[in-house]
Amino acid sequence: MDFKTPRYIPMSRRRRIYEGKAKVLYEGPEPGTLIQHFKDDATAFNAKKHEVIEGKGVLNNRISEYIFQHLNDIGVPTHFIRRLNMREQLIREVEIIPLEVVVRNVATGSLATRLGIDEGTQLPRSIIEFYYKNDKLNDPMVSEEHITAFGWASPQEIDDIMALAIRVNDFLSGLFLGVGIRLVDFKMETGRLWENDVMRIVVADEISPDSCRLWDIKTNDKMDKDRFRRDMGGLVEAYTEVAKRLGIVADGERPQGSGPVLVKG
Ligand code: TMP
Ligand code: ASP
Repeated sequence: MDFKTPRYIPMSRRRRIYEGKAKVLYEGPEPGTLIQHFKDDATAFNAKKHEVIEGKGVLNNRISEYIFQHLNDIGVPTHFIRRLNMREQLIREVEIIPLEVVVRNVATGSLATRLGIDEGTQLPRSIIEFYYKNDKLNDPMVSEEHITAFGWASPQEIDDIMALAIRVNDFLSGLFLGVGIRLVDFKMETGRLWENDVMRIVVADEISPDSCRLWDIKTNDKMDKDRFRRDMGGLVEAYTEVAKRLGIVADGERPQGSGPVLVKG
């Protein structure tokens, strides 16, 4: 299939496949593809808290593109094909496994609360947790026993997901350390991708400051969605700083435009 010259379908004529809290999925230009559109909506605590933060979607599209392209380049399979414009990327259609996979390096958030560990404590090793993706149930934490008993993933798939999670954590930890940022924890999602009769588990959804905790190495300043969750303000500035340090946007530049505008080439 030729993914390099996708037919551009005007937004008004596209079929909307799914709308989530921060993204919309549209039918893609070729069978087996989708367009992932990043909105400016920010939600927390299962959407009890909601705000539109202008510019967030554009930044997450760029940061997630950067991360997924690098994962593809080092052989970690993902759903990502290419970015189309300021707010949209072309992805492969996968069957989403209904789990949020959280990897933690430093105690904070729900782990610190649940187990009474001081915020900021380095964990003795990276910890992987699974949450069942179900808004009605508030994404409860589940164990491998639940996952296999209820058929959300097989034991082999869980092994594959954990291996992917460790590779993503190692890659992201190094990437962010190189630009003075500590990867405290992150959430990723996975999906089943069929190629002919072979199925592989790939990294899906997005990886951005919405789904990671990123602390400045020197100051411990939060550069992620906790700025919104904890009413700290300065979210777009923090995400822009992440993008700048990664070299995605130049100094003094802020990704412009509310898109979608087709990027050629
Ligand atoms: P937690 O400490 O609140 O459990 O969050 C762990 C990580 O998962 C953190 O990086 C934020 C991310 N996360 C999401 O991406 N979506 C969610 O719905 C939640 C609860 C956390
Ligand atoms: N994204 C989730 C929600 O709206 C929660 C979070 O990231 O804190 O509810």
